[in-house]
Amino acid sequence: MNAKQRVAKQAATYVQSDMIIGLGTGSTADCFIDELAGRQQQGLAFSVVSSSVVSQNRAKQLGLNLTSIELLNHVDLYVDGADEVTEDLTLLKGQGADLVKEKILAQNSDQFIVMVDQSKLVKRIGEKYPIPIEVIPFAWQIVFSALEKFGAKGQLRTLPGKANPMLSSHGSLILDMEFPEQITSQELNDELDKLPGIIEHGIFHDLTDVLLIGDESTVQIKTR
Ligand code: 5RP
Repeated sequence: MNAKQRVAKQAATYVQSDMIIGLGTGSTADCFIDELAGRQQQGLAFSVVSSSVVSQNRAKQLGLNLTSIELLNHVDLYVDGADEVTEDLTLLKGQGADLVKEKILAQNSDQFIVMVDQSKLVKRIGEKYPIPIEVIPFAWQIVFSALEKFGAKGQLRTLPGKANPMLSSHGSLILDMEFPEQITSQELNDELDKLPGIIEHGIFHDLTDVLLIGDESTVQIKTR
C-alpha cells in the first residue's frame, strides 16, 4: 500500500452511515473514492457529492450513490488532497481546475479532512507551486494587472502543449501567479477575497479540520 492509499484508508474510517460525503479531486481523492466503494460493498449506506466531473465519473463507475450539489444545503464530511500544506494547516489547492466547488464543499462541511504525503508539507504557501486564481473570463486582464500591483508574476493557464487557455468546469479562466515571499498566506487570502473579478483562489485558510499525513507505513493525524 502506498502513502496515498494509506491516508485514504484512514480517511474512510471517518465515514458513518447516512452521511453526505464530498469527494475531492486528484490522485489521493481517487484512492478515497475507491475506499468508499469498498465500504459500500461491506454494507455502509451513504451519499456522495463530487467537486469535479472526474471524481463524479469515478464515483459513478464504482456505483456510489451520487447526489448533486444543487440539491444540498449541508455536507457532513469533505475529503480531499492538497498541493501544499503549512504548519498551521493552511492549504494550497487547485492544480486541477476545479477549486470553486472544492472550496464550497470544504467551507460548508461539518468536517474537512485533508490527505497528503510528506512531499506536500511546506514552510510557505506558494513555495512549490504558483497560486491558482480562477477569474471571470472578461476580466482576466484587469485582474492580472491588479495582481501585478502586489508584485505578482504569472500567466494564464493553457491547455497542456497548446496556446489555448484552459477552462474550469464552469467556463472560467485560471491565472497561475507567484507573489513576493514577504506577503503571508493570510494577507494574500484576504486580498484575493476582496478583488472583484476573482471567482475563487487556491489558498484554503482556516478550513482544514483534520490533516492526515501518510508515508509507506504510518499515518500522522493533526487536528485544528
Ligand atoms: C485539485 C487539488 C488536488 O487535491 C491536489 O492537486 C492534490 O492532488 P493529488 O492528490 O493528485 O496529489 O487541489 O484541484
